[in-house]
Amino acid sequence: MAKRADRVAGFGTTIFTEINQLAQQHNALNLGQGKPDFDGPAEIINAAVQALQTGALNQYAPGPGSTSLRQAVADHARRFYHMEVDPTEGVVVTAGATEAIFSCVLGLVDRGDEVIVIEPYFDSYVPNITMAGAKPVFVPLHPPTWTFDPEELRRAFNKRTRALILNTPHNPSGRVLTRNELTLIAELCQEHDVTVISDEVYEHLIFDSACHIPIATLPGMFERTVTVSSLGKTFSVTGWKIGWVYGAPELVRGVAQAHQFVTFAVNHPAQQAAAFALSMPESYFVDFKKMYTRKRDLLMSALRQGGLSPTLPEGTYFIMADFSSVFDGDDIEFARHLTSEVGVACIPPTFFYSHDHAHMASTQARFAFCKSDEMLREVGERMAHLGR
Ligand SMILES: Cc1ncc(COP(=O)(O)O)c(C=O)c1O
Repeated sequence: MAKRADRVAGFGTTIFTEINQLAQQHNALNLGQGKPDFDGPAEIINAAVQALQTGALNQYAPGPGSTSLRQAVADHARRFYHMEVDPTEGVVVTAGATEAIFSCVLGLVDRGDEVIVIEPYFDSYVPNITMAGAKPVFVPLHPPTWTFDPEELRRAFNKRTRALILNTPHNPSGRVLTRNELTLIAELCQEHDVTVISDEVYEHLIFDSACHIPIATLPGMFERTVTVSSLGKTFSVTGWKIGWVYGAPELVRGVAQAHQFVTFAVNHPAQQAAAFALSMPESYFVDFKKMYTRKRDLLMSALRQGGLSPTLPEGTYFIMADFSSVFDGDDIEFARHLTSEVGVACIPPTFFYSHDHAHMASTQARFAFCKSDEMLREVGERMAHLGR
């Protein structure tokens, strides 16, 4: 009988699908998925429209990405991080960060290798690793500080470790890893000859005094790191699915070799607009941070109105909040209750953990604040009814 492959049989449907359906059914304010409910900047949309109308960009882009976007990615790395990236040999444009990470795993990890994953993790990492025939090894961030235990990290490394997937600023905890934390990761990766796949899609979403440090800028790390980012978060165009990988040519070559047989090339007119976006003036990035600081503060007070204990995020557009003082039950029960009874949808974070560590987040919920100020204020009004 015809049947699906074993490698996908255990995947099931994502928690996002269930919560989105429940949110629709109950007309809930949906703070589940990290998807802005507002449009990207008009200049960028116009750049995409113009790119479509030139008539020169409606056919396949070069496989590794358009010359203009690869140059813009290299310029951006120099402008923000003083990193020298080769736009020809050191950049590959992908279908979002999601494809970028999969192509990194396929291009840099062999069957039977181990890949260290820091929990809670973005949901595609583990399926990517298992589809490549490799084995995930988990190191948790411990709430409420969301820091790793240096000993647990050290123990995760051995002679089979090939790569470590890092994410900072971190979804869902909102942590921005410090130089000290990154230095320990860097030292262990050098000691064990491990490649870092660094997912930095929230690089411009940082608050207050937090400082985003790409691990590739640490001594000895550029040559063993591939850095992943994406247009979607920084420019509020998640639907475009334009991402990229940059780093040392030897590693990027491996990623490009996988990418050529995953998507070959990605949306050509959107790449033209992405190149324009990455060269936006400083004021764009300053205003973007200001807008999200306001939204973060609105959601922090909304969650407190509901009696939750939120952790103030240093970065990203997510807040993790402990609900144990207002609800008896686990995170899945809480997310269903909040969506159907209070009309606010959130994500239960145990889905971002391995089985053995899922209990660590069983009294937490993840809320996204990439939403209109009106919606975030209404969340506060609805949350005030929680537990009454
Ligand atoms: C940590 C992290 N990595 C990767 C992605 C995927 O990015 P893209 O939409 O560019 O594929 C997301 C999206 O939510 C994310 O939160």
